[in-house]
Amino acid sequence: MATPRLLRSAVVVCTLGAAAPAACGAVLDFTAGERAAILAHGPWPPPVRTDSSNRASGNPAAAALGRKLFFDARLARDEAGSCASCHQPERRFTDGLATARGAGPLRRNTPSLLNVSLQRWFGWDGGHDSLWAQSLRPIVSPLEMNSSLLDTANLVAGDAGYRELFERAYALSFHALDAEAVFVLAGKALAAYQETLRSGRTAFDAFRDALAAGDQHLASAYPLAAQRGLRVFIGAGRCSVCHAGPRFSHGQFGNVGIAGPGAADTGRYQGVQDLLASRYNLLGPYNDQASRINAAPTRDLRLQLRHRGEFRVPSLRGVADTTPYMHDGTLATLRDVVDHYARLDLEELSASARPALEPLHFGDGQIDDLLAFLHSLSTDE
Ligand code: HEC
Ligand code: HEC
Repeated sequence: MATPRLLRSAVVVCTLGAAAPAACGAVLDFTAGERAAILAHGPWPPPVRTDSSNRASGNPAAAALGRKLFFDARLARDEAGSCASCHQPERRFTDGLATARGAGPLRRNTPSLLNVSLQRWFGWDGGHDSLWAQSLRPIVSPLEMNSSLLDTANLVAGDAGYRELFERAYALSFHALDAEAVFVLAGKALAAYQETLRSGRTAFDAFRDALAAGDQHLASAYPLAAQRGLRVFIGAGRCSVCHAGPRFSHGQFGNVGIAGPGAADTGRYQGVQDLLASRYNLLGPYNDQASRINAAPTRDLRLQLRHRGEFRVPSLRGVADTTPYMHDGTLATLRDVVDHYARLDLEELSASARPALEPLHFGDGQIDDLLAFLHSLSTDE
């Protein structure tokens, strides 16, 4: 890649006395196309949306109920652990393990729950189409909390604290409800709580907004290495083809050659089947939107061979703080991830992944720059 030229005016601005930020540098001369690509990764935070499939969405009383459930070890059989045992708040709601461990060993890495409500599909394989349905799965999964619908409904109905929160959240009395209805409403409260989990603004966001406002002085606080990495990310690296938008994920699925063709975990291929078979999908009886317009993407889903080996494109916000990486936790560091992209084996990739991906043959400097950029998605503004 050609050596980037610097804007002379930006260099001058950085000599302005005490007001200049400590890390003050310069601003690369991004082209109009590059600027548009950078601006498309914001603004942050995005506007709050409510989930039309969930009557508890955006309801603070339901979020309070969901918060209590999220941290309650009694949700698991033998009180073995809560949602927060794996989704630990102090670790951005991950567990730091390669693959999660609940009642048994899981084969996937625990994803962060920050910004989770902005997703369209849930789980690495898209096995759920709503946050509330995804929240019910670990409760009954034998390898996770290994509990049951009935035990969950009894826990909520049998505890005075829960009864009070539940009635406040839903303005409903337990007498009117069967066990499954209570179970689903517990999941919807868990979702209402998780909707409140958002990540803050980062050094990248400050740079992006400064660029949008044409403020060279503020923009020049963003380290040059991160700017060069950003240029690779939106350009030669083609990363933003999939890691698009404010969350750095287009929300769909891709195959970047982590699980080979013979892998036991077929990813989206199994996920589509699980989703279509689920009683709790948006086509089922518990979608709170009467018109069911929100179920159109699920209704249109067809199982296709290319789904084999596809996993949901992860958001990259906060990515430096959530080692290890990928659906199976097999890459220990961000450098390992970038090295993986640099040495991609095209034979391992499905036809759908090929147009977006080529081995990138980064030089050492470019790898360091990409890492500086990825780290800037974690640091505070
Ligand atoms: C044993 C560890 C463990 C426990 C306990 C657990 N989770 Fe998870 N969670 C995971 C793993 C692993 C995944 C990824 C699952 C997959 O893709 O197959 C996940 C995925 C999720 C997702 C989807 C995130 C995304 O990016 O799509 C949500 C939401 C979630 N969990 C919420 C919860 C809630 C709510 C609870 C408690 C009711 C809970 N989890 C309990 C490990 C756990
Ligand atoms: C074809 C779409 C696509 C492109 C292009 C792409 N990625 Fe990814 N990325 C993915 C998918 C899918 C995963 C998850 C793969 C898995 O777990 O099997 C992923 C995972 C990651 C992760 C790990 C995140 C985590 O939480 O585990 C990082 C970091 C990452 N990509 C960075 C990049 C960078 C940097 C580039 C450009 C060099 C890039 N990606 C290009 C789709 C893509």
